[in-house]
Amino acid sequence: MRWGGLGAALSLLCLLTLIVRCPKTDSADLKESCSTCKQITDNFAKGFERTAKKNFGGGNTAWEERKLSKYETSEIRLMEIVEGLCDSSFECNHMVEEHEDRLETWWFKSIKVCCPNGTFGPDCNACIGGSERPCHGNGVCNGDGTRTGDGRCSCNHGYQGALCLECVDGYFSEERNDTFSQCTECHPACEICTGPTSHHCKKCKPGWEQDKEEAACNDVDECSREPPPCKGDQYCLNTEGSYLCKVCDKACSGCRGEGPDHCLTCADGYSNEGGTCTDVDECELSESPCSLEHQQCVNSQGSYRCLCAAGFQDRDGVCVLPPVNGERSAGRSNGSVM
Ligand SMILES: *[C@@H]1O[C@H](CO)[C@@H](O)[C@H](O)[C@H]1NC(C)=O
Ligand SMILES: *[C@@H]1O[C@H](CO)[C@@H](O)[C@H](O)[C@H]1NC(C)=O
Ligand SMILES: *[C@@H]1O[C@H](CO)[C@@H](O)[C@H](O)[C@H]1NC(C)=O
Repeated sequence: MRWGGLGAALSLLCLLTLIVRCPKTDSADLKESCSTCKQITDNFAKGFERTAKKNFGGGNTAWEERKLSKYETSEIRLMEIVEGLCDSSFECNHMVEEHEDRLETWWFKSIKVCCPNGTFGPDCNACIGGSERPCHGNGVCNGDGTRTGDGRCSCNHGYQGALCLECVDGYFSEERNDTFSQCTECHPACEICTGPTSHHCKKCKPGWEQDKEEAACNDVDECSREPPPCKGDQYCLNTEGSYLCKVCDKACSGCRGEGPDHCLTCADGYSNEGGTCTDVDECELSESPCSLEHQQCVNSQGSYRCLCAAGFQDRDGVCVLPPVNGERSAGRSNGSVM
């Protein structure tokens, strides 16, 4: 359990105790008992807070600091809290007395699961970097806040080392002293760097190359390579540090860019009209491709279809009138793709 949940857990313990222990209490008594109990739990939470920064002595010496964790879970602290639970109310003192054993069991059993934040292990030792800023604020201390763990730091992204003060490759040190470190991500051009721009690279990332004149890592234009990196029905798009292969427009058979105006040659069913590959309307050709009786030509992008004219049906590739006693006779037409 975490320290923060203590008040709530205690209330629950108290209420359960009341309900389980006093089944024959009549309702007026129960109500009074409840308010007494609530007062006790409130005061316990207050007492817990009051004693949070205390230790065995009065001062705050290093020796006492080390012993602080012992005080935190000690019987002395429990007693100090319990002393402040009731004023002179008989009922309150009676209730505390009655339940003291349970309170103690709970205190020593449950509380031993936890350590204060920033500390770990059986003795609640301070994490690396101190309990105020475990792992120097750049990582998570193993077992933090519990009686378990070995206190080792798991560093956040960008940091490394037992103390989480060093920067990983791809990050540079923005600020650094014995207790503080700020690592910042390199420019995308750099694999390793000493500062924020592409001029600060010590090594370029793949897809970037060292430019001697500019003393910087510049993007490689993969698209200008020979042979080109993309397939025949694709065009190449250079990006920062990489490139993309994008599918050509369907009007094209091979292309150097997006759209029907960047084709190398036009695909079947398209013809070059002033630099743009445009659909050929086969139905408008002097010789219509749908030459059977009652057929109708319908143009489509890159192709066309021969359908039966209105009122006719396709029967094995021939357009015929539907049977007279058919359900419906007009407005139907079967399609057949050529
Ligand atoms: C302890 O840490 C937990 C989780 O990181 C947090 O929710 C809680 O508020 C902290 N408690 C104190 C007293 O700082
Ligand atoms: C280290 O740097 C931090 C952040 O600038 C600063 O708060 C801290 O006082 C410094 N510590 C030392 C020992 O110089
Ligand atoms: C014509 O269309 C009808 C209804 O859609 C279908 O039952 C029939 O099989 C089609 N005929 C042919 C030759 O495709």
